[in-house]
Amino acid sequence: MWHMEPKPKIRRIKESDLSQIQRLVSANYGKFYGRGAALEYAQCFSGVPIKPRGYALVVGGEIRAVAAVIGSFDYHVEAITWVNVHPCYHRNGYGKQLISHILKVAPKIINYHVLTTRSASGFYEKLGFEVLRSIEITSKKEPGTEFLMGRHR
Ligand SMILES: CC(C)(COP(=O)(O)OP(=O)(O)OC[C@H]1O[C@@H](n2cnc3c(N)ncnc32)[C@H](O)[C@@H]1OP(=O)(O)O)[C@@H](O)C(=O)NCCC(=O)NCCS
Repeated sequence: MWHMEPKPKIRRIKESDLSQIQRLVSANYGKFYGRGAALEYAQCFSGVPIKPRGYALVVGGEIRAVAAVIGSFDYHVEAITWVNVHPCYHRNGYGKQLISHILKVAPKIINYHVLTTRSASGFYEKLGFEVLRSIEITSKKEPGTEFLMGRHR
């Protein structure tokens, strides 16, 4: 029998989502980064002066995509971080829906930055971001070039 999926919903993340987020990021990047992501997303529920805001795209009870934004002290620029769509659902429009939502609900004066690899830069270009500069990452573990991309709200 044909089974209709519920429509994706986008909402702020809850503390109880952290283990699901860890699994999602691990599925893309491995356990090391999954743990790191869960620790950073946990900052959304901490007492730090500028808390990140985490968003999840959920279908049924399943988180299929996550992303976070964090402001700066002067409130003019926000950075988008930890954008992750579960590998089973890449190229289904989830990443685009999630980032478009974040830009729509954003405070008015804000410009957006994201640091990304070459492989995902085309995704951000589709969302109206442009490359501001390339940055050489000199880490021994994962050297390479990343791109600082930006757009106005
Ligand atoms: C990169 C990522 C977030 C994209 O999310 P997604 O849900 O697969 O992308 P969408 O389906 O929403 O794609 C939106 C548009 O971008 C395009 N696109 C998606 N990924 C792309 C890529 N890697 N390169 C170029 N274009 C891409 C799509 O074709 C689509 O184009 P359209 O609007 O003309 O149809 C997702 O693949 C992912 O999580 N990858 C692993 C983690 C990662 O790289 N995160 C980003 C780190 S900064």
